[in-house]
Amino acid sequence: MYIGYLVPDAIDGGVLVGDSVSEKLVRYTDLFFEKHGHRPLAYVYSYGCQQNVSDGEKLKGQLSLIGYEFTDDTEQADLIILNTCAVRENAENTVYGAVGGLKHLKERKPELIIGICGCMAQLEHVAQKIRASYRQVDLVFGTFAYGDLYKMLYDIIYNKKRIFNLSENNTDINESFYQVRDSKIKAFVPIMYGCNNFCTYCIVPYVRGRERSREPQSVIEEVRKLVEDGYKEIMLLGQNVNSYSYGFPELLKSIDSIDGDFRIRFMSSHPKDASKELIDTIIESRHICKHLHLPFQAGSDRVLKAMNRRYTIDDYLKIVDYARSKRQGFSFTTDIIVGFPGESYEEFCQTKSVIKRVGFDNIYSFVYSKRSGTPAAELEDNTDDKTKGRWLRELLLEQRENIMTLFSRFIGKDVRVLVEGRGRQMQLTGKNDENIIVEFDGDESIIGEFVNVRIEKTANWALFGTITKE
Ligand code: SAH
Ligand code: SF4
Ligand code: F3S
Repeated sequence: MYIGYLVPDAIDGGVLVGDSVSEKLVRYTDLFFEKHGHRPLAYVYSYGCQQNVSDGEKLKGQLSLIGYEFTDDTEQADLIILNTCAVRENAENTVYGAVGGLKHLKERKPELIIGICGCMAQLEHVAQKIRASYRQVDLVFGTFAYGDLYKMLYDIIYNKKRIFNLSENNTDINESFYQVRDSKIKAFVPIMYGCNNFCTYCIVPYVRGRERSREPQSVIEEVRKLVEDGYKEIMLLGQNVNSYSYGFPELLKSIDSIDGDFRIRFMSSHPKDASKELIDTIIESRHICKHLHLPFQAGSDRVLKAMNRRYTIDDYLKIVDYARSKRQGFSFTTDIIVGFPGESYEEFCQTKSVIKRVGFDNIYSFVYSKRSGTPAAELEDNTDDKTKGRWLRELLLEQRENIMTLFSRFIGKDVRVLVEGRGRQMQLTGKNDENIIVEFDGDESIIGEFVNVRIEKTANWALFGTITKE
């Protein structure tokens, strides 16, 4: 039992003062070490998108500065933080399941601190449900409160408080967050936070607030440092990178001018803002992958309008055609929602036609999930989930048929692959510029390097070949 064995110094009128708080926490983790022979261990797990994973890396950074170390095993942990996603109902259910599972752990180890944060935690009704029905949770904080993690921990450890922090006041961007990154090869670099688009099905603008862009100089410096440290892939992140306030193509050009052996990816792009200038910038660049993740969501203009997406399928196809007129084989991937309220089977078939027409190297498709508080949740929906599930399978079948033809364009060709780890069918695996999985044989010592692989065979999930040059 470690909570409370340290008598806290007087707290200034209940207001926690930055530095003295972190100093006390450092002392606390030092004493923990003296008592237990190891530092307190934190288990931090991020659900959802890369933005969330990046936030999780910043939370770990903060914890590491006050003396925590990390574990992948909840049984070993002294602090568990679940960084959650609210984008679809099943994402939320997974979290409730996980928190329920921690109840016994807390009973066995009462000093364990359990925290829930992220997009789902930002929702008032979720926080209320946890307050009432999940007593094992000590800490709930939303997407604006990350920077205050250590202060909240202080209050839990010293004042034995249960904390709910859904404040939306802190919209400042902290440019100097220390991060403990999960990978030594690939790095996430958020360039903006929040979203202003309010697609009618989507919860993100409600849980992430309005768009805020980082200063270009700060982004460029971060990337420069990552490249210096040996990172080989930089993934720029934003809900809609094309509305980066200081100009996205300009930012890309500046980052592209950094010397070194690395590639740049980014996501997501909103088709309403994807310009010819963006495509030209990608094609003319040295480091940017010739690939665009461009979610079209639905193939019918009526449905797109009801989704408030603000482009037509014709607009979308113009971008695709422009990119491919400039560079044959320019790769597209996309997100699709099946069964938006009121979508008819004929309208769904238009989505299938777009897939056929464009030829996507990968699609991420989801059955529509009702999010309360969004405008689409109020729309009439006459199609049941079973039918929507059948449509989704139809879509995946269509994609599977397309993919073999699409992937055959690589046979006999050399592709550049960043080696990421051990393969499923062959010794090693990695991704090519198009973000397609490539497997090949080779020594593990080349993990983290770029190699050329000559493609000999394909499956519907990967390309297979032999290294031609390291
Ligand atoms: N900002 C990104 C998307 C972030 S959410 C963009 O606009 O491209 C990732 C994907 O989840 C979306 O592209 C969409 O396809 C899906 N999604 C979002 N809300 C959803 C919902 N209510 N039901 C099903 N899928 C949803
Ligand atoms: Fe959601 Fe639309 Fe914003 Fe993407 S652009 S996060 S889908 S509201
Ligand atoms: Fe990402 Fe899920 Fe939040 S997709 S922005 S973690 S709702």
